Amino acid sequence: MNISQTSLGQPIVPSYELAQLLEPVQTELELVEEWLRSNLVDNSPFISELLNQVFKAGGKRIRPALCLLSAKATHSGTGDISRLQIILAVLTELIHTASLVHDDVIDGSTTRRGQETINRKWNDKLAVLIGDLLFAQASVCLSRLMNPEVVGIFGQVIGDLCAGEIRQMRQQFIATLELDSYIQKSIWKTASLFAGGCHSAPILNHCSQTVIGSLKEYGLALGICFQIVDDLLDITGDANQLGKPAGRDLAHGIVTAPALFVLQQKSSASQKLHELIQTRAVCTSDGIAEALNIVRQNGGVEATISLARQYADKAHKSLSILPPSNYKDSLDNLVEWLFARTN
Ligand code: FPP
Ligand code: MG
Repeated sequence: MNISQTSLGQPIVPSYELAQLLEPVQTELELVEEWLRSNLVDNSPFISELLNQVFKAGGKRIRPALCLLSAKATHSGTGDISRLQIILAVLTELIHTASLVHDDVIDGSTTRRGQETINRKWNDKLAVLIGDLLFAQASVCLSRLMNPEVVGIFGQVIGDLCAGEIRQMRQQFIATLELDSYIQKSIWKTASLFAGGCHSAPILNHCSQTVIGSLKEYGLALGICFQIVDDLLDITGDANQLGKPAGRDLAHGIVTAPALFVLQQKSSASQKLHELIQTRAVCTSDGIAEALNIVRQNGGVEATISLARQYADKAHKSLSILPPSNYKDSLDNLVEWLFARTN
């Protein structure tokens, strides 16, 4: 495998190798796709077409892959994993996609994954209802698992998604945000669903509490790292790479790790950034350009990379309890694939 080094001396796996990392669960991922293609139908051809459109736009299917790798890495037998694990993988993608359909309404987004959003093509009301319909399909999947513990986990996950979004709204244009509060929001918004999938898989395999707990820790750390890297790319990426203008979060008053680290400094640059956020000057093109420059030139990027590294290391450590397997290797390498996006 073509492994190179980051500036921090960590090995990285180049992003084009995601397919290779997911190879050990390729057959199962195809079953997930098959499920999404054939089961998301409705009596109304109009609704079926809409559901189809949402999933046709694709996505990396990271959450289902994490469930399947966790299932395989904690499966004691040599046979195939059960149908329940496929349903678990499907339901994480349904919840994720439903939350994005709702998120596009909240953000007023016009495109996602290169396609027009439902709220843009039709309207907000229809998009809310299609998101609800996907949540309903996820509930049906959940009932098929017939495991009250897993039902409770995903009930909590859906509540966390809402809590994360509400916290983000309430923190808009607040320049005095604490790191703990940012991390908590990232857990609710992103890591909770990662962790839910990762530790429900060993629950369905009837593993020990120690193994279940370790996979939960892995999912949480990986999810936080994922969100930190995503937030970093909003600051460092360019419009072509991101498929959206750079600094979109900050322009909406959403303070994430890179800006937060600069805001915590006692410097004139920090003061200027405070002012740009609090006066909402970041909403203008000149204001956001100035804010991005301040964040990039005052150590915001470097501090964020080292924060992401801490969570990546935590994720690696949580896997130490698992026996060696190519599934465990993929879980490990996924951490570095994700971290490599910081380059
Ligand atoms: C993307 O964030 C959005 C999320 C990670 C979750 C959004 C959750 C909700 C809207 C609540 C869902 C509703 C229910 C009923 C559970 P982003 O805006 O940072 O990323 P983006 O750039 O991909 O839009
Ligand atoms: Mg959004």
